[in-house]
Amino acid sequence: MPKLQRMPEPNVEYAYGIYLLTNKHRLIKTLRKRYQPSIHGHKAWGAGFLLMDYINHNGLVKGAQGMEIGCGWGGVSVYCALKYRAKMTAVDLDPAVFPYVDVLAELNGVKVKSRQADFSKLKGTDLGKYRYIMGSDICFWDSLVKPLARVVNRALDNGAKKIILSDPGRPTFYELCDLLAKRHKTRLQEWYAVEPDRFEGEILEVRSS
Ligand SMILES: C[S@@+](CC[C@H](N)C(=O)[O-])C[C@H]1O[C@@H](n2cnc3c(N)ncnc32)[C@H](O)[C@@H]1O
Repeated sequence: MPKLQRMPEPNVEYAYGIYLLTNKHRLIKTLRKRYQPSIHGHKAWGAGFLLMDYINHNGLVKGAQGMEIGCGWGGVSVYCALKYRAKMTAVDLDPAVFPYVDVLAELNGVKVKSRQADFSKLKGTDLGKYRYIMGSDICFWDSLVKPLARVVNRALDNGAKKIILSDPGRPTFYELCDLLAKRHKTRLQEWYAVEPDRFEGEILEVRSS
């Protein structure tokens, strides 16, 4: 069992070494009055904890450049920045998520670069600058499957070393896995997270061959 971590105040959660704020926290309530994410980026989703757990077990090269696509509140970026000193860029189409990313980063004493962009439009030369491209719960519509497969293709063709995606197990995610397996070395694994609660799902790792 992990060490008991006392929370500094109500509505704060602790998972994989980072502090997070729940939707009931006063700072989140205040942010929500001004910024309302509209493409499901309104909380830290369970698949993000799945990704943190997976990385916790498998590690990252310290100080590497990483990009989190469809970052929402950016918990994965904050985790990678804190635990692996990763230089993280958190990308989301919805600009309303970035104040939440900033608050989480500040709360945990790390820097995360924010970038508003549609991940399907990121160029290969841009993606290829990052050793790791990660994303949790970002393949939730049929219309995202092919664009995400192309993002992964472009990233790997241009120098990215590893793509790590997590998902609760949506049919669209399995479609993405099938598409990527035709072209790359892939590993799909069932996984579970134990912090802040138990959460089960899938992890897909795609490597450059
Ligand atoms: C279900 S949320 C997951 C957020 C976060 N990854 C997590 O696990 O908590 C999906 C996120 O993907 C973002 N998103 C959806 N389509 C996108 C696109 N085409 N480009 C960039 N971000 C996108 C949404 O704005 C939202 O923040």
